[in-house]
Amino acid sequence: ASILLLHGPNLNLLGTREPGVYGSNTLDDINHALQQQAAAAGHRLDCLQSNAEYQLIERIHAARNDETAFIIINPAAFTHTSVALRDALLAVSIPFIEVHLSNVYKREPFRHHSYFSDIAVGVICGLGASGYRLALDAAIEHVNNP
Ligand code: DQA
Repeated sequence: ASILLLHGPNLNLLGTREPGVYGSNTLDDINHALQQQAAAAGHRLDCLQSNAEYQLIERIHAARNDETAFIIINPAAFTHTSVALRDALLAVSIPFIEVHLSNVYKREPFRHHSYFSDIAVGVICGLGASGYRLALDAAIEHVNNP
């Protein structure tokens, strides 16, 4: 099946951006490892990072017509602001897992609210890049046993 991995704003800076909070892996490192993990399980992983809300929304809309079976998304700062991205995920009704590298509950109170968690299949936060690996494991299990 096709699985879509979406990364929100500023995650293109991963590896150099506050490494104490977000780790030293780059986004390319993470995407490549996950693409191998997906391929080994007989699935395809399509990755997109964007700093623009509308591009993420357009990609979610396209997922309705390209057989995307599951979405893994780190909405980054849009987690705490974007009703529009939430509505896009509701509109396509493709199941998704929300991932955060950092433990948002250890951080500023404005990071404690997510517009996604109550409509996600599950949420992983605070485990760094491993969180994506675990999310992909769960996504693969989900698409193998719908
Ligand atoms: C983040 C947490 C968000 O609060 C923050 O705005 C990010 C990254 C994370 O992966 O820990 O950009 O989603």
